[in-house]
Formats: sequence, structure tokens, C-alpha cells
Amino acid sequence: MVKIPDFFSLKHLLALSLALNVSLVLRVLFESENQGLHYYGLALQKKFRGTSMAESGSVQKVAHVSKRTVLSTPFSSSSSSVGTLSEVEDGGEKIINLDHGDPTMYESYWQKMGEKTTIVIPGWQSMSYFSDIKCVCWFLEPEFAKQVVRLHKVVGNAATEGRHIVVGTGSSQLYLAALFALSPQEAIEPMSVISAAPFYSSYPSMTDYQKSGLHKWAGDARSFNKLGPYIELITSPNNPDGFTRQSVINQTGGALIHDLAYYWPQYTPISSPADNDLTLFTVSKSTGHA
Ligand SMILES: Cc1ncc(COP(=O)(O)O)c(C=O)c1O
Repeated sequence: MVKIPDFFSLKHLLALSLALNVSLVLRVLFESENQGLHYYGLALQKKFRGTSMAESGSVQKVAHVSKRTVLSTPFSSSSSSVGTLSEVEDGGEKIINLDHGDPTMYESYWQKMGEKTTIVIPGWQSMSYFSDIKCVCWFLEPEFAKQVVRLHKVVGNAATEGRHIVVGTGSSQLYLAALFALSPQEAIEPMSVISAAPFYSSYPSMTDYQKSGLHKWAGDARSFNKLGPYIELITSPNNPDGFTRQSVINQTGGALIHDLAYYWPQYTPISSPADNDLTLFTVSKSTGHA
């Protein structure tokens, strides 16, 4: 047994023990706070700072990382309101750029794939306007169509039997094509295009980009109360919040566009094959290239 010197009373020991405990507790709290900066979620504490964007007249919004608020969105996108996470020379704090994303998340994965990712297209290939004239989309490469069907079957995220596949340069182009196809040509006024807020930030500008008389952005689907035909965009999982979604309009006469850009297993559980009249997918989100 350890002998306690005479000048140490029980009171002294109690005070010493208290001091040690308080300092230990403080240390544990301090360390977990710091670790939280690296491993926890992202608090949306907006901060404005001068950057190259600021020089060009706009302001860049950034958010600090803290363990208090978890941003539920599991993905980031080049033009969505979900930003990139980067460490800046700001006392080692992590910053989220809410102005734009940058799809570098899968870069190291694709680097590891090395030569497997190299694609060579000989100059003589695909010169004809027609790759398959029996197909609705006559310039769709049959081998590409085969691989699209195979991938959806393996992943289980889309019904492919008896479907037409239409290809475009990304789903943005296909979105415009879908709007054109679904808007009546003889209507007296433009067809309203809506989506439940919060929606992908590019929808309004994409919808009105061509200043078409056929369709017009009409905002949040939840507050839409106009009678007559409309086009509702259903994004699932949703950009920017990652929620699974269904139509929110309880009205007839609507055409639905399902934007399933993020319906891939790296972003969300695949519960059943999507089986809609019109579904948009994009290679860019499945591979992480945009
Ligand atoms: C919900 C959603 N739909 C469509 C797109 C457009 O994708 P693409 O790169 O194929 O044009 C994006 C891109 O960020 C998106 O977030």
C-alpha cells in the first residue's frame, strides 16, 4: 500500500482528484471536438469570402464543417446547390463550397482502374447517320443499348422490357427533348413545368432557356394550383436533399418526368426497378464524372 505524506489531508486529495477529473473531461471534449471536424457532418453556417468568384462580381458562399448538423445529402453535383468539401488555409477548417460542386470524388477510383478505362474510337467507325433504323432513336449504337439494358438489369434500378432507349448528350439535353415531346404544339398558352421545392437549381433556367412558347417554368409543385395540363418533374433521390420522391400533385392532366440521375446504389438503396412512362438517367452520375 502507498503511504500518504502527513501534510496531505483527505481534503487535499479530494481537491486534487477533482482537478484531475475536470482536466481529463476537458481534454476528452477538446479532442472529440477536433476529431469532429474530420469525421462528422457538415453544418451549413454561411460565410462569405473573397475568392476568384468574388473578383468576377459574384460572391462565393461557404459553409464550415461542424459535428452539430449533418447534411443528409449523400452526393454532390457540378451544378446543384450541394457544394464541394475542401480544406482551406483557414486554421485547418473544412469548407463547403455552396456555389458549385466539382466531381473529383471518384477520381482516385478511376485512376486505379488504369488502362481498363481507355476507350479508342477508330476514325472509320459510326460514320453512317443510321446505326439501327429499326430503333426509335436511329443513331443509338446497338452495342451501347445492349450495355444500358445490361447495367440496369445488374443494378435493378429500371424496368427495361418493352422500353425505348433514347440517348442524348447528358440528361440535360434529354430533359429539353422530353419537354418538347410532352408539350402540346397547339396549346393556347405554354405548359406549366413544376417540381417540388427544393429542386435541382438548374431546372428553372433549363426549362426557360429556349424561351419556348410551348412550356414555361412555374415553380414549386406544392403551391401549384392552376387547372389544366402541366409537367411535373420528380427527382428521386432528390438533388439537393437526397430524399426519395413521388408526385406531389393530386390532379389529372399532368405528364410526369422522372429524373433518376442519382438512382444508383452509391447514392441510395435500390428498392425496386423504376417503371415510369418517361425516366431520365445519366451516365455522368452513374460513373461520378459530373
Ligand atoms: C437532378 C439532376 N438531373 C440532371 C442533371 C444533369 O445531368 P447531366 O450531366 O447528364 O446533364 C443533374 C446534374 O447535376 C442533376 O443533378
